Amino acid sequence: MNRKLHRPEPILHHTAKSVDRSAPPQAAAARLRDGEMLIVADLYTTGEAILARLDLLLRPPPHDAPFEARQAHRRMHREAILRLLAPIEEHRLALADARPIGFLKELYPERSSFVLPFAQVQELFGAWNRYREGVHLKVLGHSLYPFYGTYVPTRVSHLELFGTWLHQYKGPRHRAIDVGTGCGVLALMLCRAGFARVLATDINPNAVESVSRELDRLVPPPPIDLFCGDLLGDDPEPAELIVFNPPWIRGQAQGLLDEALVFTDGLFERFFDQACARLTATGRLVLVFSNILELVQPDVPHPILAELERGRLRLVQKLARRVEPVKTPDGGHRRTRERVEIWELARA
Ligand SMILES: C[S@@+](CC[C@H](N)C(=O)[O-])C[C@H]1O[C@@H](n2cnc3c(N)ncnc32)[C@H](O)[C@@H]1O
Repeated sequence: MNRKLHRPEPILHHTAKSVDRSAPPQAAAARLRDGEMLIVADLYTTGEAILARLDLLLRPPPHDAPFEARQAHRRMHREAILRLLAPIEEHRLALADARPIGFLKELYPERSSFVLPFAQVQELFGAWNRYREGVHLKVLGHSLYPFYGTYVPTRVSHLELFGTWLHQYKGPRHRAIDVGTGCGVLALMLCRAGFARVLATDINPNAVESVSRELDRLVPPPPIDLFCGDLLGDDPEPAELIVFNPPWIRGQAQGLLDEALVFTDGLFERFFDQACARLTATGRLVLVFSNILELVQPDVPHPILAELERGRLRLVQKLARRVEPVKTPDGGHRRTRERVEIWELARA
């Protein structure tokens, strides 16, 4: 492993007060809400109970509240949960009922004892389980084993729609580029569809590490080259297919995985400039997108329509499909007006 990977920042000095199961979790949750730092001293389940109580104290606004109100709540919630800490000793969570998290040794080779926010320990633990057990992706017909800090799709309708588009693609299959590859699912779909070489890029080094480990695991290794950096990178070689499943809403990234979900101004302009410079004369540019931007941020200019208005590219076709209803906390399902979309563009 030679890439500098993202990891939760280790805390080496703190003044947090100890909490254990002898205190009611709701009292500890209220202290966190009010700005105090606490550290769990006995059990993993103590930390879980406190954060569950904090969730009840900091209820989110209704799902149809303005986007800005929901974002502000997310920020405030994140700040409060990060005030609960957990001790790590000898690369293990020093709580009696804690199970091992192999990433601790990998991500912190230089020190074995430190403190992390409890919520980030939970994220490391969830990621470790996904990495060990794998996440089955029907569109690939096998599991992927995503590394910590890598975006993994939780819904599949956009991947299935991309599969439908790819199935009817009749163009050449020498070289494709998968921009923002995440756990590598689209790049692997392109290999399965017969592309001789696929360049998979991501700005997140953990995603590139994840796909690199996937390539080591798969036999024979798929013909994927990796690049860690902004968008298409600086390799000038043209490609006849450029695919991008970008972040779908505008915002400021707050955590590592937010880069996968929210875009800042300029991302699409840079992407289209680079893609236009690299696309072959008859090549195709495919964006996996959604109408969520129009639903939750109607004032934000649509980045693909804005590019089409510039006249460099034309729309060849657009596919759309409803997404599966959203699961609600009470176990029901909420219908959504959200649709996933495939935008196929070519040179005008
Ligand atoms: C919505 S995820 C899609 C991941 C994967 N392609 C998929 O379909 O599941 C967006 C990905 O783009 C990456 N990304 C965001 N900004 C980027 C940039 N400027 N350059 C390269 N990758 C970027 C994120 O790290 C993330 O992995």
